[in-house]
Amino acid sequence: MQKFKNKVVFITGGTNGMGFSTAQEFINNGAKVIITGRSQQTVDKAIDSLGANAVGIVSNAGKISDILELQNKIKAHTNKVDVLFVNAGYGKFGPIEAVTLSDFDEIFDMLVKGTFFTVQQLLPIMPKGSSIILNTTFLTEVGHSNMSVYTAAKAAVQSFIKTFASECTSKNIRVNGVSPGYIKTNIFNNTGMSTEQIQGTIEAVTPTLPFKRFGEPSEIAKTVLFLASEDASYIHGIEITVDGGLSRTK
Ligand SMILES: NC(=O)c1ccc[n+]([C@@H]2O[C@H](COP(=O)([O-])OP(=O)(O)OC[C@H]3O[C@@H](n4cnc5c(N)ncnc54)[C@H](OP(=O)(O)O)[C@@H]3O)[C@@H](O)[C@H]2O)c1
Repeated sequence: MQKFKNKVVFITGGTNGMGFSTAQEFINNGAKVIITGRSQQTVDKAIDSLGANAVGIVSNAGKISDILELQNKIKAHTNKVDVLFVNAGYGKFGPIEAVTLSDFDEIFDMLVKGTFFTVQQLLPIMPKGSSIILNTTFLTEVGHSNMSVYTAAKAAVQSFIKTFASECTSKNIRVNGVSPGYIKTNIFNNTGMSTEQIQGTIEAVTPTLPFKRFGEPSEIAKTVLFLASEDASYIHGIEITVDGGLSRTK
């Protein structure tokens, strides 16, 4: 399958989880992939597994100076990007009273500023017919305790789907979003929760899910590939929820 032959895909946060799985899926479909992560070690490890059609850039989505260097760093490998998946991220969860100013800034810097300026940096090297996909969350559809800051930041990303789509129409670039439910990734490792707390959360959440299982990263990857492909050529400004029905069924 060579649906993405001669295409270059840029994925923020591609060392793990959905970003890594999406990188694998694009490579399996003929693309060349550039991924980012916050450390040389995680980037190198991912590139070792992804193989010759992947390159990595160390870049922190929460650090504006890193984002402003992205275009130049990408140009060391390619002069164009056909697909941009803005995916890097995590949450810090806790009640309103426990949120610190620094937690708030960390999450908004990475998810809101990070998404906006990554797209701003990449747009000049995205040709007509390109595609942008933003990673949001099903949480924007519900109202989950302890997730106010993360959900608000993702709601801003959700809003970008429509405003960016509107602006990118004249460039013939499609913009869409993927909204994951509970997916089996390393996301909880960045939250400050202990291993026991993470295991406890997974055990408590699983029975509440419509299909009694977390989603697989590959189920997000396949949705991203669909949105980026010619099969989605008339899909623009929408978000596909991939949460096993969690936000839609009782
Ligand atoms: N898992 C879920 O249930 C779920 C549900 C809804 C939405 N999401 C969203 O899905 C996206 C991917 O998360 P995941 O679940 O796949 O988690 P994951 O397995 O922890 O992967 C996160 C990826 O993002 C990278 N990353 C994290 N912070 C970064 C930063 N500041 N700058 C650059 N890269 C960064 C990590 O790389 P390094 O560690 O190498 O930096 C890693 O490659 C996130 O935006 C998350 O909010 C997740």
